[in-house]
Amino acid sequence: TEPFSEKLRVPEALTFDDVLLRPAESRVEPDAADVSTHVSKNVRLNIPILSAAMDTVTEGEMAVGMAREGGLGVLHRNMDVERMVAEISRVKRADELVIRRDDVVTASPTQTVREVDAMMEREGVSGAPVVDDDDTVLGIISGTDIRPYLEVGESDQVREAMTDEVITAPREVDARAALELMYDHKIERVPIVDGDERLVGLVTMQGILQRREHENAARDDDGRLRVGVAVGPFETDRAEAADDAGADVLFIDCAHAHNLDVLDSAREIKQSVDADVVVGNVGTEEAAEAAVDFADGLKVGIGPGSICTTRVVSGAGMPQITAVAEVADVAAPEGVPVIADGGIRYSGDAIKAIAAGADAVMLGSYFAGTEEAPGRVITMNGKKYKQYRGMGSVGAMKSGGGERYLKEADEGEEFVPEGVEAATPYKGTLASELHQLVGGMRSGMGYVGAATIPAFKQRSEFVRVSSAGQAEGHPHDVMITDEAPNYSPDRD
Ligand code: XMP
Repeated sequence: TEPFSEKLRVPEALTFDDVLLRPAESRVEPDAADVSTHVSKNVRLNIPILSAAMDTVTEGEMAVGMAREGGLGVLHRNMDVERMVAEISRVKRADELVIRRDDVVTASPTQTVREVDAMMEREGVSGAPVVDDDDTVLGIISGTDIRPYLEVGESDQVREAMTDEVITAPREVDARAALELMYDHKIERVPIVDGDERLVGLVTMQGILQRREHENAARDDDGRLRVGVAVGPFETDRAEAADDAGADVLFIDCAHAHNLDVLDSAREIKQSVDADVVVGNVGTEEAAEAAVDFADGLKVGIGPGSICTTRVVSGAGMPQITAVAEVADVAAPEGVPVIADGGIRYSGDAIKAIAAGADAVMLGSYFAGTEEAPGRVITMNGKKYKQYRGMGSVGAMKSGGGERYLKEADEGEEFVPEGVEAATPYKGTLASELHQLVGGMRSGMGYVGAATIPAFKQRSEFVRVSSAGQAEGHPHDVMITDEAPNYSPDRD
């Protein structure tokens, strides 16, 4: 056998603070850099950013916010399948141009004005197509039609109050034509009908304006916002339900995907769904080789996360820059995108991960303090915080996330956690955090002289930084008087 002392001839593995991007000749204006990327073989994003599948980071609201800004939210899986399906639908419906028939709130001609008024209030809509039993559109009723009836004619039928000269459009209508119709006729909604005047959908002014406002949004082929979903290593049922509900990318959510049972199950899941399947987490060349033949993406990160204790608890892990580079060496030639997951504190870390070979980055702590993250704001010593906890923490595993760590606890037995429960400063809106994060990454592209993510991956070079060099890189010898929106010494 090999002498044990041979084991001590160890290779070096590096992380974010060990390296810096070498500045290079450039004509690239950061604002002009194109940051679009592939997150998986068939899914493109307009910014290379994902929010983590954690129960204090990504539910429907975060996923809507991420997709509107051009990125992707990955729903966590500490929720039952039914709720997951509802959260997926919430994202998919959010800025839909044509609301599908099943989602349209309609009135019947024989309802009373009072009933319809209450229904519209309950459903949160300000108008509704009026349809008969076989869905033929008879008219449209809105708050303006109802108002004159409120005091005196509340028990009159809808057919009395509705506008019966209704403007409709055919299935093929596009946003521009629908808007023109609405401007011409001074109306806010247009029912979409088939050849027999039957209702098949609804276009609203508000829906169109939302889409205009978020031109950079990440959308599927039908124009709906994109959403990712975490599924457990052996959760075929959850995977199929997410796929049926329209999820764009499934993320096999495991702390050590180089487990052969996990890989077998991931392979099976891949065969039973249409959505792309990203396999993770991996951190070595060997793990990448074991999954690259079937995965639509590989997610990298063994223990770099801010709330992770995997490395101290298990003694295993891979510093993140080396892990990303090893996986990318295997994935890039096969055209499989790589996602760097965890450990990103600053925009500079995010763009270093891309230089090391990642196509996109996933962040947890960076977003956990935003308005869109689940959970409420708490105040301690006059400062505002939100809860942030590892999915391998005792609290999160009790709520259902144990198998990510391939762990179970029997009745009365304690979990062996690999994460902590914490609080993170409250940060305001996701949009302003993303603006700083992506803006910083664009600056990195400017320093390297690369106008696109693929060009940046090729052109960027690293230099090794000593601890003296690292200290030089942070503000030093001064007392910070005003907080910068993208720098906090606490993040170190
Ligand atoms: P950041 O650093 O962005 O990391 O907060 C988020 C990523 O950390 C992983 N994660 C964990 N890792 N124990 C771990 O070892 C945990 O309890 C835990 N919870 C999350 C996960 O990959 C996430 O995206």
